[in-house]
Amino acid sequence: MSAPAAPASVGLPPGWRLLDFDSIDSTNDEARRQAEVGAPEGTVVRAVRQTAGRGRSGRSWSSTDGNLHCSVLLRPGMPAAVAAQASLVTGVAVTAALTELAPSLAFGCKWPNDVLCGGRKLCGVLLEAGGADGANPEWVVVGIGVNVATAPDLPDLIHPATSLQAEGADVSVDTVLEAVCRHLHSGLTAWRTGGMRRLREAWQARAAGIGQMATVRLPNGAVTGRLVGLDRDGAMVLAQPDGTVQRILAGDVFFASAPRMGAVSSKDG
Ligand code: BTN
Repeated sequence: MSAPAAPASVGLPPGWRLLDFDSIDSTNDEARRQAEVGAPEGTVVRAVRQTAGRGRSGRSWSSTDGNLHCSVLLRPGMPAAVAAQASLVTGVAVTAALTELAPSLAFGCKWPNDVLCGGRKLCGVLLEAGGADGANPEWVVVGIGVNVATAPDLPDLIHPATSLQAEGADVSVDTVLEAVCRHLHSGLTAWRTGGMRRLREAWQARAAGIGQMATVRLPNGAVTGRLVGLDRDGAMVLAQPDGTVQRILAGDVFFASAPRMGAVSSKDG
């Protein structure tokens, strides 16, 4: 599979490079292949369409022309538990990029790594890591799918979805890719210097549904409570009606009512 040269219209951060495909199995798979042959951090794989696009928890990701499918290769050089925070960095970066491109729309991060627009899913992030030592991964691939032109209309879709076009924002895929990469680059730098404390503030300032009731579907059941915010390590904190507080490490969040977007101070969390 050979990648054509990056189109001149896509400007990437210094040191980053684009591998641009018409069709590929999954940009995450290609980014992993690139990682395994020594490609550097900042290698971006983008495809017009994917034949085997993947979502979280083994779900498939519908990949149609006109949407953004890309994966960014990182070499974080940190323990896996810390490197996992890159998904929060990505949620903040995508939210900031889309807010810049469509300032009249309300975007928000939904834990752990979705971006919503007006309560509907607009973007999903799939983080994968690997290398010789699982506890200290050699590479992390951040896969990003943004519904630019169309939203999937699948019977098994567990979250209602939307697209930039459906929300009235006429933005090109290249423009979204460029803005996402720029914000991701600056967000990664801020996270590496400021750590989880700074990331927590940035994420909570852009979060969806903080303070609202939600049900979190866990691998082994479900729990309902008020979303409090992020813990010091990036776990979601949920306050249950009986007063107990639960740290959620993995799960799917469902809101009882339309989530409000953004603006929670870290002092509240
Ligand atoms: C999710 O919400 O379940 C995550 C979806 C991630 C989709 C993107 S599209 C680009 C990259 N390649 C994939 O196969 N998946 C991610």
